[in-house]
Amino acid sequence: MNRAVIFDLDGVITDTAEFHFQAWLQLAREVDAPFDRQMNEDLKGIDRMTSLARILAHSPHRFDAQQRDGLAARKNTHYQHLIEGITPQDVFPGVPALLSTLQTSGYRLGVASVSKNAAVVLERLALTSQFDFIADANRIQNPKPDPEIFLTVAKALGVEPRHCVGVEDAAAGVEAIRAAGMPAIGVGPRSALPLANHWVDRTGDIRINDIERLLV
Ligand code: G6P
Ligand code: MG
Repeated sequence: MNRAVIFDLDGVITDTAEFHFQAWLQLAREVDAPFDRQMNEDLKGIDRMTSLARILAHSPHRFDAQQRDGLAARKNTHYQHLIEGITPQDVFPGVPALLSTLQTSGYRLGVASVSKNAAVVLERLALTSQFDFIADANRIQNPKPDPEIFLTVAKALGVEPRHCVGVEDAAAGVEAIRAAGMPAIGVGPRSALPLANHWVDRTGDIRINDIERLLV
């Protein structure tokens, strides 16, 4: 049977979730909106324009569509600046070993990230060739928690959703995986990711046995 593991990127393969937070924090200050780590939890896994709308809901200022596009571009400039220096050293510990073990065991590997910066991040981490398919965020109509991105990757890998395991650090992402009919591994506390089927503190802690058990 064909089997696959589909990984989110930001906060699962590398700590770019922190850079998204830093970039949003900078933008929030520019629009006088309150923003902190707790509010950021609700933005994890959420696409750029929806995240911006959630931040602007707390700003005392009003912005039209054109101004919003400008603000989203500004956040992206902050983010691109922060990721300029990332290197293969920034891959979370244990992840390269996990990917090779899965490959050797016959798993197909995919990335399901709604970030339009995913391709450049994976290039800088020297991980592009480790994956059989990387979702193109520009072609996804419905962002997480909709299952579309996970279903798109499963289809491209030629693996039935029930034979795929999804790995996510965001509640919206876990919701998307489950809605796609796949078991989910949550990277983070059970309290934050209640819909997951298994939890680890760090992606590198995932064992192949955990994955096999979820696919039985
Ligand atoms: C991922 C991250 C979010 C980010 C989104 C869009 O889902 O978890 O924090 O906002 O991608 O990223 P982008 O690089 O396209 O702005
Ligand atoms: Mg994430």
